[in-house]
Amino acid sequence: MDPRPRMFIIGAHGFVGGHLVLQASGRWNVIGGDLLASSENEIAIDVADPASVASAFARVRPQVVVLLAAMADIDRCEREPRLTESINADGAEFVARGSAQCGARLIYSSSAAVFDGTRHGYRESDAPTPVSVYGRTKAEAEQRVAKLMPGAAIVRPALVVGRGLRPGTNALLDKLETKFSAGRTVVAPTYELRNPIDVYTLCEFLLELAARPELQGIFHIGATESISRFDLVTLYAERLGYSRDLVVPQTAPIPGRAPRGLDHFLLCERSRTVWSRPVPSLEETIERSLYVTA
Ligand SMILES: NC(=O)c1ccc[n+]([C@@H]2O[C@H](COP(=O)([O-])OP(=O)(O)OC[C@H]3O[C@@H](n4cnc5c(N)ncnc54)[C@H](OP(=O)(O)O)[C@@H]3O)[C@@H](O)[C@H]2O)c1
Repeated sequence: MDPRPRMFIIGAHGFVGGHLVLQASGRWNVIGGDLLASSENEIAIDVADPASVASAFARVRPQVVVLLAAMADIDRCEREPRLTESINADGAEFVARGSAQCGARLIYSSSAAVFDGTRHGYRESDAPTPVSVYGRTKAEAEQRVAKLMPGAAIVRPALVVGRGLRPGTNALLDKLETKFSAGRTVVAPTYELRNPIDVYTLCEFLLELAARPELQGIFHIGATESISRFDLVTLYAERLGYSRDLVVPQTAPIPGRAPRGLDHFLLCERSRTVWSRPVPSLEETIERSLYVTA
């Protein structure tokens, strides 16, 4: 019998989930959850199905739950609002109920997309103003989680950067490398600003929250400065050894795509105050996203 506390990471096959499983595995008895189970340390769970969630919690009996599973493709969310609501909002509620019933601590991964991005700098206490289906369902999930589990920690990143540990995740660097290596161009908005966080640092933060139940409520996490998506992608092209000419500036929204906030700069004073590590600079974030993994 493993004496370590049980951590149930839901969305374990995703970009962030893959890294979190790896980083948590020394200290925690990690059980990964995703739509399909692919090893003995994983179980299948569909967060949108209350029976599936109840059965998974009965089997795992976790002490800590980290909910990462989501419909995270913002354009697909806009096209499929009902499915998005059932995964992102209902799913978060079912997982919060399961966590409450077994007395587990819950860490929920939300998003800066709960804000409209019409001004520079958002605090945790600012009221959500989502402009997309994705943002609305994340804001709805936050409310339901906080109502059912006031002691939960809710983490909002603006943009997570790094490589995925398996193909087909949401990892930005993987998507860029696939296109650049085939000589294909990448179109990136010059007018969308984000303060990104590298996936390694985000997971360190999630693990600290997991271990410290006194940390409750909403936490913003992102680099100390922001950057436009165009400048970020250009920087990655150069750092990965490709021509900056492969990055095409996009100067206006593309019709038919989901609306996106212009400036999602998250102010991180609260996280800086409680965290044992410093919030990284933009330069550190980019460096870690390229080279640091567990
Ligand atoms: N990456 C970012 O820049 C970013 C920024 C802000 C917030 N976030 C939030 O951070 C979390 C993790 O994001 P990520 O980038 O790791 O996303 P990801 O790579 O898309 O991972 C999400 C995982 O959840 C799984 N999933 C989808 N529907 C499910 C369901 N009904 N039941 C169980 N599992 C399901 C997905 O499986 P399939 O792939 O098979 O669908 C996938 O393995 C998400 O909540 C996202 O909203 C991410």
